[in-house]
Amino acid sequence: MARSPLVDRLRASAPQISVGVLTADWLNLGSQLQAIESAGVELLHFDVMDGVFCPMLTLGAPVVAGLKTQLLKDVHLMIEDPLSKVEGFVAAGADIITLHVESTRHIHRVLQAVGKLTNANDPNRGIVRGIALNPGTPLEVIDPLLGEFEMVLLLAVNPGWGGQKFIASTCDRVKRVREMVRDTALICVDGGITKDNIANISRLGADIIVTGSAVFDGKSPFENAKLMMDSLR
Ligand code: DX5
Ligand code: ZN
Repeated sequence: MARSPLVDRLRASAPQISVGVLTADWLNLGSQLQAIESAGVELLHFDVMDGVFCPMLTLGAPVVAGLKTQLLKDVHLMIEDPLSKVEGFVAAGADIITLHVESTRHIHRVLQAVGKLTNANDPNRGIVRGIALNPGTPLEVIDPLLGEFEMVLLLAVNPGWGGQKFIASTCDRVKRVREMVRDTALICVDGGITKDNIANISRLGADIIVTGSAVFDGKSPFENAKLMMDSLR
């Protein structure tokens, strides 16, 4: 794995959760983010959808930049033509930037381009480059990209919405990706995570587990985040 302070930090705090901001109560966003931070959360997950790569249209770089927070910004791009847009998301403060292998003919070129960019929050921190795979994408796509990414995100639902049901075949995919990347990359699982399945998924070898609707369910985000993190220990 490319050594950068950020990769080392994420490795040291694994397994951990990355909380999806989309399902938060946006009228009370400040207090909701404070609540998860005081529960010990380090990562805030932004689901960027362009209404083309996947059905929903969500948020863009100005929203990533506009949320002033100490949380690390984990930006999951579900967009077409990422090459022309990655720079804007890095300038907006992305610490982790994840690209879908299905979203471009030139994933290797996009990863190389991101590798030349500097973290806008702290130039010494480094950027974590993630590659994301939809549930139907063969894992072999990872092989020629080894060395050009620091994280693999396995989607456990089809991209589009929070609150979907976890696709069971993801479990086997997590184990297989761990064998393929060994310790050269972090593994992230995103979609359909609940209080009931999170412990099992972390045991399979996931370093980062994205959770949106299970933390922001209208009850206490502090209690929810704490409970989910406690399930990882
Ligand atoms: C899928 C999104 C979601 C989201 C997590 O397009 O990437 O998976 O982050 O949402 P929940 O935790 O509600 O499944
Ligand atoms: Zn996501």
